[in-house]
Amino acid sequence: MAETKKIAVIAGDGIGPEVVAEAIKVIRKTEEVFGYKFEFEHGLFGGIAIDERGTPLPDDTLQLCKNADAVLLGAVGGPKWDNNPKELRPETGLLGIRKALGLFSNLRPAFVFDCLIEASTIKEEVLRGTDLIVVRELTGGIYFGEKFRREGPNGQEAVDTCVYSVPEVERIARQAFEIAMKRGKRLASVDKANVLESSRLWRETVIRIAADYPEVELEHVLVDNCAMQLLRRPTSFDVIVTENMFGDILSDEAAMLTGSIGMLSSASMGEGSFGLYEPVHGSAPDIAGQGIANPIATILSVALMFRLTFGYEDAASAIEAAVKSVLDAGHRTGDIAVDKSKAIGTVAMGDLIAAAIAK
Ligand code: NAI
Ligand code: MG
Repeated sequence: MAETKKIAVIAGDGIGPEVVAEAIKVIRKTEEVFGYKFEFEHGLFGGIAIDERGTPLPDDTLQLCKNADAVLLGAVGGPKWDNNPKELRPETGLLGIRKALGLFSNLRPAFVFDCLIEASTIKEEVLRGTDLIVVRELTGGIYFGEKFRREGPNGQEAVDTCVYSVPEVERIARQAFEIAMKRGKRLASVDKANVLESSRLWRETVIRIAADYPEVELEHVLVDNCAMQLLRRPTSFDVIVTENMFGDILSDEAAMLTGSIGMLSSASMGEGSFGLYEPVHGSAPDIAGQGIANPIATILSVALMFRLTFGYEDAASAIEAAVKSVLDAGHRTGDIAVDKSKAIGTVAMGDLIAAAIAK
């Protein structure tokens, strides 16, 4: 009997609860097929928590997440809360939970389903076989450095500072090497070491950590070149590790190689195997409540959870294979359908994927 794993579920707002329900359906099916055991605890988070509890991240929700082995998050936000003061905005809860849980990296896989290549803006022969993951540092860099305005000789000036410490680079580098060891054993470290001092420290540190991972083939890529190579030779990348702002930009670029936002999964990790898993997309208020949202991003986030937190590689691969087989059979939600009149809804897509899960 497998040990029962605790999953904190914070479905959030808009389509969050709709797509999370399908992810839970898929998790239940893996219990049946693989004999794993999961326990779900649901917490209020985001706009709904603001309405019901007066804060986007209630203490009991945070506690629930801390006590869990992993967190499954839907999405938060919506026009209703957009004009609220900062402490009463759903996004504030998102930043707060990542910080409180010590999550310092954001992982975004980008892989291409052959049957969806026609929907991409990139040429088929360039794209086919793309399967990479971007590991983005989340807690340092220019987003968190000192920022201020001052009077200069030509009027007002604005200053943002980019700071990285050795331990910050070490922990993200180690994590990226560990991920590379479990994948294709190739790591591209992206920096701007020809110009930035913080990038020089980044590169020195990555080189030092690389000594512990002799099996991983390491390349250093300047960020501007990486932006180019992602479009020119995406199949040559396996794991990409980079600092906060470069990762923000490159992970969006990499994601768009592979199609709809409704397909893209993510994980946020800290030390150890604990992680928070969520689709890349938001709460999609324009389609919420209509039962047409694509649940695949959230379902693929579960595959990441199984792989990275639980080490259930068999079930993770089975989920990905199930998604592929359902897509190969021609089933599409509206966002990925060429012929929108044949599109199926959220629940139907979840049912098909759950049914396709097999050993
Ligand atoms: P969004 O990702 O919610 O929607 C962008 C577009 O993609 C919309 O047309 C939407 O209908 C479509 N879309 C998104 N997910 C889809 C899915 N699973 N299936 C089919 N279509 C899908 O981004 P938007 O509109 O900029 O933001 C809406 C709200 O979500 C805002 O309040 C924003 O702050 C919040 N947000 C929350 C995030 C999170 O919880 N991590 C991330 C991004 C935005
Ligand atoms: Mg971004």
